[in-house]
Amino acid sequence: MSWWETAVGYEVYLRSFADGDGDGVGDFAGLTGKLGYIASIGVDAVWVTPFYPSPQADFGYDVADYRDVDPVYGSLDDFDAFVGEAHRLGLKVVLDIVPNHSSSEHPFFKAALRGGPGSTYWDRYVWRDPAPGGGPPNNWLSIFGGPAWTYVPEHGKYYMHLFLPAQPDFNWASPKVREEFVDILRFWAARGADGFRVDVAHSLLEHPDYPDNPLSDELRPGAAPRHFGHLEHLYDLDQPGVPEIFREWRRAVGPDVYLVGEVYLGEPEKVRKYVTGGALHQSFFFGLNALEWDPPELGRRIRRAVEVVPAGWGWVQGSHDEHRAVTRYGGGPKGVQRSLALWTAMMGLPGTPFLYQGEELGLENGAVAAGNVLDPVGLRQPSEGRDPCRTPMPWTISGETHGFSDGAAPWLLSRRRPDHETVEFQEAAADSPLKSMRALLAARRETASGRVGPVRRLDAPEGVVAYARDGVAHLANLTDEPVEVEVEVEVEAAGAWVLAYATNGGRPADGAVRLADGAVRLGERSGVILRKAS
Ligand code: NOJ
Repeated sequence: MSWWETAVGYEVYLRSFADGDGDGVGDFAGLTGKLGYIASIGVDAVWVTPFYPSPQADFGYDVADYRDVDPVYGSLDDFDAFVGEAHRLGLKVVLDIVPNHSSSEHPFFKAALRGGPGSTYWDRYVWRDPAPGGGPPNNWLSIFGGPAWTYVPEHGKYYMHLFLPAQPDFNWASPKVREEFVDILRFWAARGADGFRVDVAHSLLEHPDYPDNPLSDELRPGAAPRHFGHLEHLYDLDQPGVPEIFREWRRAVGPDVYLVGEVYLGEPEKVRKYVTGGALHQSFFFGLNALEWDPPELGRRIRRAVEVVPAGWGWVQGSHDEHRAVTRYGGGPKGVQRSLALWTAMMGLPGTPFLYQGEELGLENGAVAAGNVLDPVGLRQPSEGRDPCRTPMPWTISGETHGFSDGAAPWLLSRRRPDHETVEFQEAAADSPLKSMRALLAARRETASGRVGPVRRLDAPEGVVAYARDGVAHLANLTDEPVEVEVEVEVEAAGAWVLAYATNGGRPADGAVRLADGAVRLGERSGVILRKAS
């Protein structure tokens, strides 16, 4: 079995995790010092967001050098120290690779701009002539707003960018681009990376003719497309040649390096070809991220995803790109419990659950005043801004920055957190989201071995996720009412299931009661892991 098949991952948004050198920006020294905390939660792998030299126009997702560390995050030696310590603690390391686009400060793009059409590096990016009557070559839009094309008057050409103009798209039809990325992956694998998270993995190629995309139903009749959702992305995303690129990567880095993609395509059926047939191992499952609290719909979407590609998912509730799950689920103690109940549902599925930093604390969105917004998306479309999920980790109760930095003000300014949201408070409390998450992960680990079989759905009322797999059952009551669930037991007597964990406080008695007739009573917003008594 490969390590990721039983692992739980933890996403670190490096800028906001822990600042080791007092400049207000999280870095490798800070992260390395906190690896003991990460290991203590009970996760097995750390995914670190991009740390490469970058002008930070999109906070590191605009890479100017793929084989080094930006001085703001440390040095290659600091990276090596981080990997060494992670491995010593038994944690795998997953790096974030950004193959769709570079920074406009990348030497290849600068050389293309200098050299013009036909020069050595020109072909590494996507250049097109203006439309016949002038203007951009087609109607494609940037995900971050505005056209997907920027004009370069000296050369009379447009270049394409799915994101900011400062993030020109690589031309993946070029063999040179392919060679370059294989080399980059090998570079980091040789330095100890155990896997890669692949940024916007579904968008590397475009249709070779660059036709207009059709208008989507979201657009009012007669209106001009202005927003990414106003187009149907037939020609700029999800082109047939993309999974083959990941097959090449797998062949290049070998079977032990894990590849998990950000394949943001909605329907599990569309994602399937990226996570089967030797392409990526998994994609994150984004089917829940835009969803507010809707238990029957959450259950349905999880079920469908598992049916379509059983082991193909990295299970997430949020990331550095989404509003925090607890906030989306209503906030306060109710939001925290809902999120934990959903984690109980996710923790027994095939695939790899990934916590986003602070989810173990039940963190809500951070509050960033309008004048302090820094995210390029937030500056263009305030309601979609990503700063609220990127505010610094609250470590200590006291201190200006809750122990994130002991020097300068943090790079992203936000309102102080209440005491109960800090690591210090939750470590000391008898009962806290952190303690519940530890109990959940311990129960998962205790019941994990040999869980390779298919997921068998158990009968349960709507809004309750209930399934069994290899002698372990997960019951998660996503509703706000207590429920009773019959636990079907095939061979053993009805009483043979043992409670390993209950979401409310981590102690079985708080969240669930096992009844004599083989049923379990679950409190509202609580879940349990059950295993057969041996
Ligand atoms: C997805 C990343 O998660 C996001 O933060 C970034 O802005 C875009 N890709 C562009 O790289």
